[in-house]
Amino acid sequence: MNTSEKLQLLQDKNSQAEAGGGAERLEAQHQKGKLSARERLQLLLDSNTFQEIGKFVTSHHSEMEDFLGDGVVTGYGAVHGRLVYVYSQDFTVYGGSLSAAHAEKICRLLDLAMKNGAPVIGLNDSGGARIQEGVVSLGGYADIFYRNTRASGVIPQLSLIMGPCAGGAVYSPALTDFIIMVENTSYMFVTGPQVVKTVTHEEVSAEALGGATAHASKSGIAHFTRANDAEAIALMRRLLTYLPQNCEDETPAVPYNAGSDEIRPALNQIIPDLATQPYDMKEVIHELLDRESFLEVHADFASNMVVGFGRLAGKSIGIVANQPSVLAGVLDIQASTKAARFVRFCDCFRIPLVVLVDVPGFLPGTQQEWGGIISHGAKLLYAFSEATVPRVTVITRKAYGGAYDVMNSKHIGADLNFAWPTAEIAVMGAKGAAEIIYRREIQHASNPEAKLQEKIEEYNEKFANPYDAASHGYIDEVIQPSLTRMKLIQSLEMLQNKNDHLPKKKHGNIPL
Ligand code: HXC
Repeated sequence: MNTSEKLQLLQDKNSQAEAGGGAERLEAQHQKGKLSARERLQLLLDSNTFQEIGKFVTSHHSEMEDFLGDGVVTGYGAVHGRLVYVYSQDFTVYGGSLSAAHAEKICRLLDLAMKNGAPVIGLNDSGGARIQEGVVSLGGYADIFYRNTRASGVIPQLSLIMGPCAGGAVYSPALTDFIIMVENTSYMFVTGPQVVKTVTHEEVSAEALGGATAHASKSGIAHFTRANDAEAIALMRRLLTYLPQNCEDETPAVPYNAGSDEIRPALNQIIPDLATQPYDMKEVIHELLDRESFLEVHADFASNMVVGFGRLAGKSIGIVANQPSVLAGVLDIQASTKAARFVRFCDCFRIPLVVLVDVPGFLPGTQQEWGGIISHGAKLLYAFSEATVPRVTVITRKAYGGAYDVMNSKHIGADLNFAWPTAEIAVMGAKGAAEIIYRREIQHASNPEAKLQEKIEEYNEKFANPYDAASHGYIDEVIQPSLTRMKLIQSLEMLQNKNDHLPKKKHGNIPL
């Protein structure tokens, strides 16, 4: 072979690798409304930044036709100018199924990402273990799980689910930090509808069992969903803007010029006169943050708790907030685990936390108690207590009982705690408290109803305010709602060099 033929051979091999499973299978992929592995990477990465690794890898399985790349495109590139490592499964090659070689490519990428301290983004579209390869494929999965776990908390690991993801394959995305699912074309489950039918006699479709909607609203496995591949990828690009490259890095701030709207008067009107009347905490969040900067995480799951990313004066922060317009903002199992996981993510990656509190307490009942609210609530307590990032709390209205302690109180390590004049920081609500502590007096009154009312007012006067807590130093300052944004910006600036460490240990034992 002469030189020009050798150059031609390289060109042919490149074209062959880029063709994946061929035009027919690519057409079938498009027919399903899905993009190809390479088209997805083109949308995800800044233009002309993709560098491929392992393009000519094959499975070396003697009885099977070899496809260059073996069903996964791996490499690195840039998103908004910052390095990321990517792998994109190619459904046109054996349904994107995972062979030993395919797994090795992903492992190599994870190793590179760890050594070089940059996020890994996985685009999943796979029929699971390569059936023809048997146990070596299962081993390949475990090699990936092991690396996902070791990388957890060191580099952000992010998953896009853009097709099937079934069996043990679901555990790699589950070990990553965030999952975005594409509606109607992706699903995740440990056992599919057929097995479900055999074992439990339930009839359920793949979509109902493990589609994007099910996981975004019922299980909480999916943090986000989007209508199609392009929108899901655009969201991934946006999510990355809130994250650092690794646990030792800071998230780059976006340019910010303090404008004329740092005071937000709308916040003075937001709390209703009636303590039982709801309001939308997301309105408070939008008013506090830089305009258009809120990215809600888990929007359709445990909506009595709101978590998400935002920016204050251009800097990335995590928000954790009770939502009084859903179940009065009560803390239950799902809300506790949702918030705990988010707090731990932010703490891993040096993202300061802002916590907004309006919580009537923990949800009572057998379902909650038997479901383990004690240990699930303890997760949130643990997550906050352990977090060493700057932490600022604002109590807007209710902070009752144990929920006061849990929601980033000073006692569990918050740095600065503010309250609005509308705050009620007490052991419980006025009615419940009055009925317990003045029971005899009310029973023996000539008009018990009027007496109860009188005692409720007395209790409100005495305890349902922020001033008792402020007198103990549990609240650092009672502030005008309209000035809260400025207070938060100043607080986080003051705390930006916070240096706090956990006691030396192997690792803690969070109540899982
Ligand atoms: C090898 C596979 C494959 C697999 C699909 N293909 N899954 N090849 N191993 N696991 C191939 C098909 O033979 C076909 O090849 C091509 O991919 C596309 O598959 P279709 O069935 O035509 O596509 P579609 O109708 O869209 O259905 C997709 C699918 C289905 C739902 C994923 O293929 C399917 O059920 N596959 C098996 C899934 C499965 O049971 N995987 C093992 C799970 S257990 P051609 O040549 O025709 O294009 C597991 C254990 C992991 O993963 C454990 C980790 C700890």
